[in-house]
Amino acid sequence: MSEHDQDLDHDPDFPIVIEGVTNAFGDNVVHDELDLKVKKGEILGVVGGSGTGKSVLMRSIIGLQRPRTGSIQVFGKDIVAAEPDEVIGVRNRWGVLFQGGALFSTLTVAENVEVPLKQFYPDLEQQLLDEIARYKVVMTGLPADAASKYPSELSGGMKKRAGLARALALDPELLFLDEPTAGLDPIGAAKFDELTRELTDTMGLTVFLITHDLDTLYAICDRVAVLADKKVIAVGTIPELLESDHPWIQEYFNGPRARAALASKERGNELDKSSEGNA
Ligand SMILES: Nc1ncnc2c1ncn2[C@@H]1O[C@H](COP(=O)(O)OP(=O)(O)O)[C@@H](O)[C@H]1O
Ligand SMILES: [Mg+2]
Repeated sequence: MSEHDQDLDHDPDFPIVIEGVTNAFGDNVVHDELDLKVKKGEILGVVGGSGTGKSVLMRSIIGLQRPRTGSIQVFGKDIVAAEPDEVIGVRNRWGVLFQGGALFSTLTVAENVEVPLKQFYPDLEQQLLDEIARYKVVMTGLPADAASKYPSELSGGMKKRAGLARALALDPELLFLDEPTAGLDPIGAAKFDELTRELTDTMGLTVFLITHDLDTLYAICDRVAVLADKKVIAVGTIPELLESDHPWIQEYFNGPRARAALASKERGNELDKSSEGNA
């Protein structure tokens, strides 16, 4: 058990525990006593119709949106109740790729990756910063010379990877991805998914992955949480979710697009078997 895990009642198997969270903007109640637990080491897919509050939920977990009621424990620290400086030791244990994933356009990729490093470790020497940044850039599958490029010089897929490199700058244990494959073509999206799975496994990450990409859910998510009716109405593997008779779940996971995604996943499994070792 690490020194971080000594908070009373904290179960290290669940780095995120959300209980009874209500979020509202004026009269617009987005979450009504929502509960959710994220398991250590999993990629949890978070789905739900547009405007159901997926991004608001993520922002609540990382302390950017204060719920009206409820508690959100991250590594045993209550993000809602704690003072900002109390959670500094938790903030550097997560990385975030926001929806749209905007990089700072006037900074190079390396300089973008260095932003969180400088924020948490202001005394690091420039040479070390550059080395860490270059390492993160290569780790996300970008060519080394991408480090000195500006975002405008990169393709959509490369920008996402650069955003991921920045999210991983602090070697986080928790990774938040808000619709990371939106706007990518299917091949770019599949490659980004593979990268996410690979990094999750090699770095021992826990991933909160908001997506509406069915291929992503089938390909890399261990469990899926469904947001509807202002709550997480179900969380489980896709076969478990299919047992629910909630209309949104049935429509989403049993519709034609879901069947296509499943078929594509099964084709992928066959290909993996026939080309083992050719990765
Ligand atoms: N800063 C804000 N101020 C007011 N309303 C907001 C704000 N952020 C989100 N909302 C509202 O909260 C709801 C959920 O938004 P969001 O979490 O972005 O949905 P999505 O599931 O598509 O990510 C929407 O009705 C949105 O209009
Ligand atoms: Mg959103």
